[in-house]
Formats: sequence, C-alpha cells, structure tokens
Amino acid sequence: MRIAIFPGTFDPFTIGHYSIVERGLKLFDKIIIAIGYNEQKANAEATAEQRRLQIKEIYSDVNSVEVIAYNGLTTNCAKKYNADFILRGFRTVADFEYERNMADINRKLSGIETVLLYTLPEHASISSSIVRELLHNSVDVTEFLPQKHQY
Ligand code: COA
Repeated sequence: MRIAIFPGTFDPFTIGHYSIVERGLKLFDKIIIAIGYNEQKANAEATAEQRRLQIKEIYSDVNSVEVIAYNGLTTNCAKKYNADFILRGFRTVADFEYERNMADINRKLSGIETVLLYTLPEHASISSSIVRELLHNSVDVTEFLPQKHQY
C-alpha cells in the first residue's frame, strides 16, 4: 500500500491544498494530511485541533484520507504512520528553494522521498496568509476554501 504524508500548517487549508490531495490520490492509496508546526508561523489563527476538525469534516466520507496533528519532525510522523513518501505542492520559483531544502533534509534524516506536485495555475496566487488577510478585512473567502469532498 502506497502511503504519503501531506504535511503543512494549513492555516487555513485552501483549495490549493485540496487540489494537491485530489491529484495525490491518483498516485497514493492513502494520504495522511498532517498538521505540523512551522516555527516561522508560530501564531496560527486556529489551534491545530480546530484545523484538524475543519479538514476532517471535508474528508469525513473518504476512507483513503486521514487527518492528524503532530509535534516534532515530519519524518518521525511519517514513520509512525508507515508513510514512504512526503507529498507537497509548490506554486512558484519562490517556493522551490524552500521545498528543495526541506526535501533534502527529510531525505537525509529518514530516506523518505518527497513528491512535489506543481500547483494548478489557477491556484498559484492563493496562500493561507492571503486568505487570512482577506478574512480579517471581512471579505468572503468561500471561493478559496474547499467544500466537502465529492466523489
Ligand atoms: N496551492 C496554493 N497554495 C499553496 C499550495 C498549493 N498547492 N501549496 C502550498 N501553498 C501555500 C500555503 O497556502 C501556505 O501559504 P502561507 O505561507 O501564506 O501560509 C504556503 O504555501 C505553505 O504553507 P503550508 O502548505 O501550510 O505548509 P508549511 O510550509 O507551513 O508547512 C511544515 C511546513 C509543517 C511541513 C514544516 O515546517 C515541517 O516539516 N515542520 C515540522 C518540523 C520538521 O520536520 N522540520 C524539519 C523540516 S526540514
């Protein structure tokens, strides 16, 4: 069984993230969406448990997706859930260095390979921080947030 962990801060989980999971499900039998801790994003808007419940609701009818929160290293979490791959999406060249460094370190730490999917062009300008900023300014952000998963 091919299991991938999809780690992120997901504050919030956007249609960009949703699309990566959709496309990842064509490559993997199971995807563990894992809410981790990014030191650069210490002041998350929602608690990890709130984010976990929000994402879990989207996938409540989907057996091949599990949603968890973890502390510590992503590679330790991957091993705990028997994941052989780390799944990530990247949008622009600005994401590339960051993703490459993380993939290198994670491979050095554990041998686990990272599979990077190009973000769909229509999602390239979406980010969790932009969605949060719009929310703070009372803009309706529904179009950037995924609805319940449909088969
Ligand atoms: N479409 C649109 N936007 C996307 C996207 C896509 N396909 N993929 C990523 N993004 C955006 C997100 O919205 C987010 O935007 P933001 O910067 O405004 O918040 C950004 O790109 C990436 O954030 P996110 O996807 O939430 O993940 P992250 O980079 O914050 O996650 C961890 C980082 C948690 C995976 C990393 O810090 C980690 O592994 N922590 C654990 C400790 C560890 O193992 N450290 C060693 C790692 S080298």
